[in-house]
Amino acid sequence: MNIVNVDYDGLIPNNVGLGSDTRVKRALEKWHPGYINWWNDMGPEGFQSSLVYLRTAVSVDPKGWAKFDYVKMPDYRWGILLAPQQEGRKVNFGAHKGEDAWQEVPGEYRAMLRRLVVIQGDTEPASVEQQRHLGKTAPSLYDMRNLFQVNVEEGRHLWAMVYLLHKYFGTEGRDEADALLERRSGDADTPRMLGAFNEKTPDWLSFFMFTYFTDRDGKMQLEAQAQSGFDPLSRTCRFMLTEEAHHMFVGETGVTRVVQKTCEAMKAAGIDDANDIEKVRKLGVIDLPTIQKKLNMHCSLSLDLFGNEISTNAANAFHSGLKGRFREDRLDDDHTLENSTYPVTRLKDGKIVLEDAPALSSLNMRLRDDYLKDCSLGIGRWNKTIEATGVKFELKAPHQAFHRQIGEFSKIKADPAGNVMSDADWTKQRNDFLPSDGDRDYIESLMKPEVEPGKFASWIAPPKVGIDNKPGDFEYVKLA
Ligand SMILES: [Fe+2]
Ligand SMILES: [Fe+2]
Repeated sequence: MNIVNVDYDGLIPNNVGLGSDTRVKRALEKWHPGYINWWNDMGPEGFQSSLVYLRTAVSVDPKGWAKFDYVKMPDYRWGILLAPQQEGRKVNFGAHKGEDAWQEVPGEYRAMLRRLVVIQGDTEPASVEQQRHLGKTAPSLYDMRNLFQVNVEEGRHLWAMVYLLHKYFGTEGRDEADALLERRSGDADTPRMLGAFNEKTPDWLSFFMFTYFTDRDGKMQLEAQAQSGFDPLSRTCRFMLTEEAHHMFVGETGVTRVVQKTCEAMKAAGIDDANDIEKVRKLGVIDLPTIQKKLNMHCSLSLDLFGNEISTNAANAFHSGLKGRFREDRLDDDHTLENSTYPVTRLKDGKIVLEDAPALSSLNMRLRDDYLKDCSLGIGRWNKTIEATGVKFELKAPHQAFHRQIGEFSKIKADPAGNVMSDADWTKQRNDFLPSDGDRDYIESLMKPEVEPGKFASWIAPPKVGIDNKPGDFEYVKLA
C-alpha cells in the first residue's frame, strides 16, 4: 500500500488499505448509498448535474495532492485520506505523555473519543445543508465553484469521521455513522449538535463570514485533534487541515472583495462618510456598518462553539491524551498542566474580569484565545484594504462577552465593546449591533445570480487570481 498515493480502483478511494480490510470496506459500502441519497437531498440545490471545475485529492503529499477537472458533484470521488504515519510518534501531552501513540482505541477512553469524532463529524454535513441554496444566487461562476468545492470537501470530511467510526468503534460506531445522515441543520426535531450549525446561511456575505469564522473554529478543533495520542484521528485531522485552508481562503478573500467593492464605489461617488448607509446602498454595494454587523453575528456564534470557559470535559480530553492544545508540539512547557494556571475572563459582580484558573480546566478558553488571535489577522488585512482606498472605517472583532449563548457571558448582555448593559438597553440597541430585518432585506435584494463567465455581481470585486491559475473569464461551472 502506498500511503502517499490514493487507491482509486474501488468504490471508495482511499490510502488506508481498504482493499484488504473486508469488514470496514463492506461497512462503508453499505453506508455509501445513504450518503449519496443525503447528498442528492441536502447538497447544492439545482446544480447536481452541472459540470464543476473541482479539485480532488489524489495524494496526501503536501507538495501536490490535488488534481483539477470538471466533475458532476454526485460523481465526486469522496475518499478516505490519512496523512502519512510518523515513525515512532508518541503521545505528546497529558497523563500518557511519552508513551507510543495509540493505533487502537484505548478501552478506557472509548466513549470520550467516540464523542469527539461524532461532534466533529456532525459539523461537516451540517454546513453543506446550511449552504445548499446559495448556488442559485452566486455572484459569479468563480464564487459558485468555490462554494461547491467547500461543499464536496465537507462531504469528504464526513467520510473521514465515518471511517473512524466504522473502523474503530464497532456497532456503536456504525449507529453513530447512520445518525450523522439523519440529523438536519435547523430541524426542530433532529437538529445538528452545535448551535452555529443550525443557523441559516441566507446570503453570500453570510457564507463568506461563515467560512472565515466558523470554518476557522473547525480549523482550531482539527489542530487540537491533530495532536491526539490516538494516531488515526491525528492523521485524519492533519489531512483535513490541508483542505480546510482553502475554505478559510474563500472566506477571507470573499469579505476582502466585498469590502473593496464598497470602498471603491464610495470613492467613485465621492462619499466619505461610511455611516451614510442610505447613500452607499444606492450604489448597489453593502455598506461597511452592515458588514460589521454580519461580522459581529458570525464571530459571536463561532465563539460559542468552543464551549464553556471552564470545562471538565476539556480537561479530561487533554489529560487522557485525546485532544491537545493548538500546536501542542510547538509549545514549551511540561505538557501535563497539572500545576499551572491560565487567565480566564469571568463575570464577577456584574463586571468582566480576568482571573487565573487551573490550566487544565481552562483549555476551551485557551483554544478560543488562540482562535481570536488567528481571526484578528484577517480582520487586519480587511482594514488594510479599506485604508488603501482612503475610506475611514475600521472593522473589529466583537468582545467575547457580546451576544453569547454559551459560557460565562450567556447570562448577561454586552455591547460589541464589552460594556455590560441592561436587557432593556439591549432590546433598544440590538439592531445597531446585529443585522436587522431591514439589513437582511437589503442584502437579499442584492443576491441576484451572475452566471456569465468573467462577470461579477455589483457588490463584489473580482478575485486577484483565478483558481488553478485560470484566466478571468474561465467557465468554472458549466450549467446543466
Ligand atoms: Fe470540514
Ligand atoms: Fe471547512
